[in-house]
Amino acid sequence: MLDRIESTRKSFDEDLSKVTDLASLEELRIKYLSRKGLITQIVDSLKDVPKEEKPKAGKAVNELKNHTNNSFEALKLKLESEAVNKEEFIDLSLPGVEKTIGSKHIITQTLDEIKNIFKGLGFSVYEGPELESDYNNFTALNFAEDHPARDMQDTFFVADKFLLRTHTSPVQIRLMTSKQPPLRAIMPGKVYRNEAVSAKSYCLFHQVEGLYVDTDVTFAELKGTLVAFVKQFFGQDVKYRFRPSFFPFTEPSAEMDIWWEPKGKEGRWMEILGCGMVDPNVLKNVGIDPEKYVGYAFGMGIERTAMRKYGIDDIRILFDNDKRFLTQF
Ligand code: DAH
Repeated sequence: MLDRIESTRKSFDEDLSKVTDLASLEELRIKYLSRKGLITQIVDSLKDVPKEEKPKAGKAVNELKNHTNNSFEALKLKLESEAVNKEEFIDLSLPGVEKTIGSKHIITQTLDEIKNIFKGLGFSVYEGPELESDYNNFTALNFAEDHPARDMQDTFFVADKFLLRTHTSPVQIRLMTSKQPPLRAIMPGKVYRNEAVSAKSYCLFHQVEGLYVDTDVTFAELKGTLVAFVKQFFGQDVKYRFRPSFFPFTEPSAEMDIWWEPKGKEGRWMEILGCGMVDPNVLKNVGIDPEKYVGYAFGMGIERTAMRKYGIDDIRILFDNDKRFLTQF
């Protein structure tokens, strides 16, 4: 028995010295330490050892078990940590993972540009909600209850007396009822119209509203401000003109056109905004004394302006979220 133990120990040590990886270590485990392995067989055969030899044999078997188990575990630990280190090895010559970075939508870019120009002209930025009351969207802006002007704006009604705002002009009302003049702000945002969708019009678009209320505001200042704006936005040599117009909330009212010559096409005047002196009725509606204060206002659509600037001829593409289009800007 003792001889058998000794030779098993020798062969185990020899086999162990040949183990180079986890796979050959597993073979060693099966050969010696598994349930049918050589060591287990020796333990089992202890019962056949004559009584007087048992203490010695038992001790030797225990030593063998300890030796093989300890050697096995030590080598296993070593090989496992080597394997982990191998996996974590970083190959610095591998190409990196390319990260794609998003870009601002051209409507956002255009809005940012317009905001920056007006900030430079002394305007702050004020925003109002897209869900509006009929009162703020129409009545306070001097649209009479059954005034045909209400039909100019095909409205999405959400509930009785509540609607998706058809223009950013109601934000003027919010600003004037919440703050005292002097007031000078632009009010950008989304507006909604219940219109048939086509290359030229969409049910949703953006506007930027402007308002200046103080004791001595003039129409000349309105013109000067808007001219400064179009020169910065379209370029110093932009050609522009003002035409008389009508809006319920301004008197007198005008529209501003710029001369537009698309490449290879005939030039023409394009309307870019509406403007005028705030109607005294509007000031009265918000509790500002029209004898003391005057104001001017303007409102412009963003999509058409951006389309002109970037040479886009179908408004729908701005809302499609097609990456082939978006990644061009
Ligand atoms: N709210 C008008 C529209 O949606 C645009 C407009 C015209 C705004 C004249 C104004 C203004 O503030 O003075 O067509």
